[in-house]
Amino acid sequence: MKPIIAPSVLASDFANLQSEVEMLNESQADWLHIDIMDGRFVPNISFGFPVLQAIQRHAIKPLDVHLMIVEPELYIEQFREAGAEIISVHLEACNHLHRTIQQIKATGAKAGIALNPHTSVQLLDDVIADVDLVCLMSVNPGFGGQKFIENTYRKIESLKNLIIARNSKALIEIDGGVNQQNTPLLLEKGADALVAGSFVFNSADPLKTIANLKNQA
Ligand code: DX5
Ligand code: ZN
Repeated sequence: MKPIIAPSVLASDFANLQSEVEMLNESQADWLHIDIMDGRFVPNISFGFPVLQAIQRHAIKPLDVHLMIVEPELYIEQFREAGAEIISVHLEACNHLHRTIQQIKATGAKAGIALNPHTSVQLLDDVIADVDLVCLMSVNPGFGGQKFIENTYRKIESLKNLIIARNSKALIEIDGGVNQQNTPLLLEKGADALVAGSFVFNSADPLKTIANLKNQA
């Protein structure tokens, strides 16, 4: 199976957002990964609803929204209205994760949980059957262009085992430092979806880079 490719719009040229989104429309990308940062959960601020809505106006592919914010439960419905198809919240940001997952599903969106590099996948044991996606952070969230953390391979294996043991349908998404070099092993370990920001947008030919990620397996 070919991986789902989700380029991260964070690394795009915001001054030319429409043409960047149109490029992704034409490309072999499956989803658009949207990084929302609040300056509290992570030490950076990205963008909010007006920009997300601008992306939605031009995008023809599902918006995979990654919330790096505290108290995400306050904004779930608003993100859904702004066009999110998949909404992922951080386990570390949720006191009532089970409730927040149900809240996301009630909007009709797919529900994802993101895990920081230090967070054990075993903490998902009691919710894995309820979620559509687990986003394993392979960098510390907050910035694009960081170095891939090698321990991620081990986490994919553990998560895959948990998904099988609990009969879950959750997809495994890898986010941070993804490139052509680490993709084969990520897929071999069981990754389903790959987020790539700087590797795509800093390349000479983003369309070709996306196609290579999609078809190299
Ligand atoms: C990091 C974000 C990532 C980031 C990936 O906090 O969640 O989605 O945009 O960027 P690269 O691929 O450059 O590591
Ligand atoms: Zn992300």
